[in-house]
Amino acid sequence: MKRVDDFRLRFPGKGSKQEFVPIMIGGMGVDISTAELALEAARLGGIGHISDAMVQTVSDRRFKTRHVKDKLQQYKYNVTNTEKAEVQFDLGRLAEATLMHIGKTMEAKRGDGLIFVNCMEKLTMNGARETLRVRLNSALDAGIDGITLSAGLHLGSFALMQDHPRFRDAKLGIIVSSARALQLFLRKNARLDRLPDYVIVEGPLAGGHLGFGLEDWMKYDLATLVGEVLAYLKSEHLDIPVIAAGGIFTGSDAVNFMELGAAGVQVATRFTVTRECGLPDKVKQEYFKAREEDIEVNGTSPTGYPMRMLKGSPGIGDGIRPNCEAYGYLLDDKGHCAYIDAYNREVALHPDAKKITVMDKTCLCTQMRNFDVWTCGQTTYRLKDTTRKAADGSYELLSAEHVFRDYQYSTDNKILLPA
Ligand SMILES: Cc1cc2nc3c(=O)[nH]c(=O)nc-3n(C[C@H](O)[C@H](O)[C@H](O)COP(=O)(O)O)c2cc1C
Repeated sequence: MKRVDDFRLRFPGKGSKQEFVPIMIGGMGVDISTAELALEAARLGGIGHISDAMVQTVSDRRFKTRHVKDKLQQYKYNVTNTEKAEVQFDLGRLAEATLMHIGKTMEAKRGDGLIFVNCMEKLTMNGARETLRVRLNSALDAGIDGITLSAGLHLGSFALMQDHPRFRDAKLGIIVSSARALQLFLRKNARLDRLPDYVIVEGPLAGGHLGFGLEDWMKYDLATLVGEVLAYLKSEHLDIPVIAAGGIFTGSDAVNFMELGAAGVQVATRFTVTRECGLPDKVKQEYFKAREEDIEVNGTSPTGYPMRMLKGSPGIGDGIRPNCEAYGYLLDDKGHCAYIDAYNREVALHPDAKKITVMDKTCLCTQMRNFDVWTCGQTTYRLKDTTRKAADGSYELLSAEHVFRDYQYSTDNKILLPA
């Protein structure tokens, strides 16, 4: 019986002799996949992701910088204004925060694995192209091993990095949810003569935002999607490692995908209840306690993508005033965000209310920053089976090493409980 450790992940091209345990820990935005978590994956010979979502906030938390306070101070006059077009990111400070978050993480790296950064296109930051250019190039400047493009088609993202000296050396990959999306990406980038080093195929059971419709995500399944992407790459004679993601809960699940032809797996949900994960301990207990009926895919994210979360997330319905002067990561190029519209509508409908409820959209920046949107994978309800329960009803947190090794060595769909 095979186990994940019988396989190794190699990237074609330069440095292709280097081998990795074929386990990637996925990026989990606003510091849920912390540097500590990613560093453990790298130490154990796999690949860990940090995320650059709300990087200025993350920098303030990690390094006591003042990006958010200063931005709020600068735009304080605009807080009650419904128009947010003026609230721009300072590109120098964006670069500074990115360099610090990624640079310090890379300095701390030990072991034979790699650290990648997850970069979501949907963080349009009131200036999509220029902010993305700074994020990508600063990540390369900071010495990141690789960049995973996510939450968007990223048709122009490679071109934004093409003049960087590390453009052909760093590992660059993309998350897709269909062979069609990959085909579009490859066509659009053909003139750059630079293929992605890996493709993550993310199915409908993943956490975070989904690349499927709100009504039809359940019609898709990961094995079929992976098969379609593999067939497409074969038909084009392209040698790009395919990484399967979404709902892979045991080492045996992972082996099944590798026997299908995947080069590795990306996993996240099982690491949400590790000590290294950035969620507060109280929230980790909510993830452990979750039952299947407590998990939903809804349309509350202002990005327009469906998002999976626990129904009990405090951020759902919370009608706080938009906080774009401090954050503003989801403002489009015209300074709009779907939450602002939903909030203004409710204020107009209830002019005398002290507290507003907004059910259809959530202020994702603030709620993710405060860990009040509990996004999770569909398998979250199984987390309680991965640990021990104490007499007081609480669940024992796990170490990232324990979960990583369980994926690496388990067989027969077994899950190793902590000692
Ligand atoms: C709490 C949580 C947050 C996530 N945040 C992001 C994110 O910011 N960007 C992204 O591309 N994927 C995000 N994901 C998706 C994961 O990186 C990963 O691809 C997926 O969840 C793997 O499936 P699994 O959770 O069933 O193992 C998130 C997943 C979870 C569980």
